[in-house]
Amino acid sequence: MSEFHVRAVAEGEQRACLELLQQSLHSRPMSDEAWEKMAPSWPAAGKFAAFDDHATPVGIASSFDTELTVPGGRKLVTSAVDGVAVRADRTRRGILTTMMAAQLEDMAARGVPLAALHASEGVIYGRFGYGAATYGKSVLVERPRAELHDGVGREGTVRFLTPAEAVERVPALYRRFAGERPGFVARPEMWWPGFFDRLVTGDMGYRVAVHSGPDGEDGFVVYQTIDLRDRQAPERGALLDIREMHAATPRAWAGLWRFLLSVDLVSAVAGRGRPMDEPIAELLTDPRAVNTTEVIDDLWVRLVDVLAALTARTYGTAEPVVLEVLDRQLPDNNGRYVVGPKGVERTTADADLRLAVDTLASLYLGHGFFEHQALAGRVEVVDAAAVARADALFHTARAPWCGTFF
Ligand SMILES: CC(C)(COP(=O)(O)OP(=O)(O)OC[C@H]1O[C@@H](n2cnc3c(N)ncnc32)[C@H](O)[C@@H]1OP(=O)(O)O)[C@@H](O)C(=O)NCCC(=O)NCCS
Repeated sequence: MSEFHVRAVAEGEQRACLELLQQSLHSRPMSDEAWEKMAPSWPAAGKFAAFDDHATPVGIASSFDTELTVPGGRKLVTSAVDGVAVRADRTRRGILTTMMAAQLEDMAARGVPLAALHASEGVIYGRFGYGAATYGKSVLVERPRAELHDGVGREGTVRFLTPAEAVERVPALYRRFAGERPGFVARPEMWWPGFFDRLVTGDMGYRVAVHSGPDGEDGFVVYQTIDLRDRQAPERGALLDIREMHAATPRAWAGLWRFLLSVDLVSAVAGRGRPMDEPIAELLTDPRAVNTTEVIDDLWVRLVDVLAALTARTYGTAEPVVLEVLDRQLPDNNGRYVVGPKGVERTTADADLRLAVDTLASLYLGHGFFEHQALAGRVEVVDAAAVARADALFHTARAPWCGTFF
């Protein structure tokens, strides 16, 4: 008899599943008050769990449906996988594998073409067809050296919002800005209480500042400051740590950086998971004031319906390529696809390149190169000339970026 069985989570079982997730992620136990705040963001829908013989959850795989922007600007329905864990005394006996299979089959049956997640470790999700499709960088800007070029605009203004104003106004601002960059996910109503509202109304000292340009409010930043001073080094000042920052235009974005670098008694400005192509050094007279301290995988994507996903995005200019895709979990995706600037269709033509669905996922939003995946043996090259064509078709000038934690 199996030690566990996997099924959809029923109403009333959510809190036990969230507690299991938090325990597995080494968070502190949750108070009743904390649960009440989280509950709207943690519905039963979209969750599969593994239960033991006493109906106690020992594994959880949670998701909610949202939209993801793909190259060309289309927003595609996407299952955002937002909580995965197996109880520490039940790991490595196939619970995650069974939950992932149930979740993927459910997405496929519902016609959801994409899934996406943030991974706690880089070695877990490739086997389930996910590939690291966007990356982010951590930056540390040394404020004393960070002088802006004269040409950086000064026309915008920045003002703080109170926590209550932020809760009320920022979701609408985000909806206006989000969308054009590949990798962005829409934040559904239920996302805000658990992530944003808790952050800005909590006791961690987060501030929310909004930038206004000629057409009104066009950017916001959420940050906290961390005092670095002690008796030996009173000159250290504070670290200004950006939690999130989104802007409708490059000018609004530069205006927010002007503001962040102007805050007194701050010795450095830091941001994690910033877009790979965020041009901070270009704003400054001394590009060495910017240190990139980390580059890390950001959004992992899974093509649940390969044809629908490939058809939804646009491509660069090159002759078409024929890709042969291998998908162990969802075999309906197996087969050959001709991909070109005019569109995508299934084909019986010979393959130019062969690759597994996780490798395709890592290239899907425009990050990386077929050439590099071929070097690693992750793309089998049948026709060598097709590698450069595939890169010209898939790679995007603008780096894909998610910018939302879930
Ligand atoms: C990661 C986690 C969910 C894996 O669950 P699990 O039930 O042990 O996974 P499975 O038994 O189904 O393992 C499937 C395969 O993945 C491998 N694997 C799973 N987790 C792994 C890890 N953290 N590192 C390396 N390999 C891992 C297993 O060895 C197994 O490999 P095999 O098929 O070659 O035998 C579980 O360890 C966990 O909850 N960790 C803490 C919370 C966490 O990291 N959650 C993920 C948040 S994104």
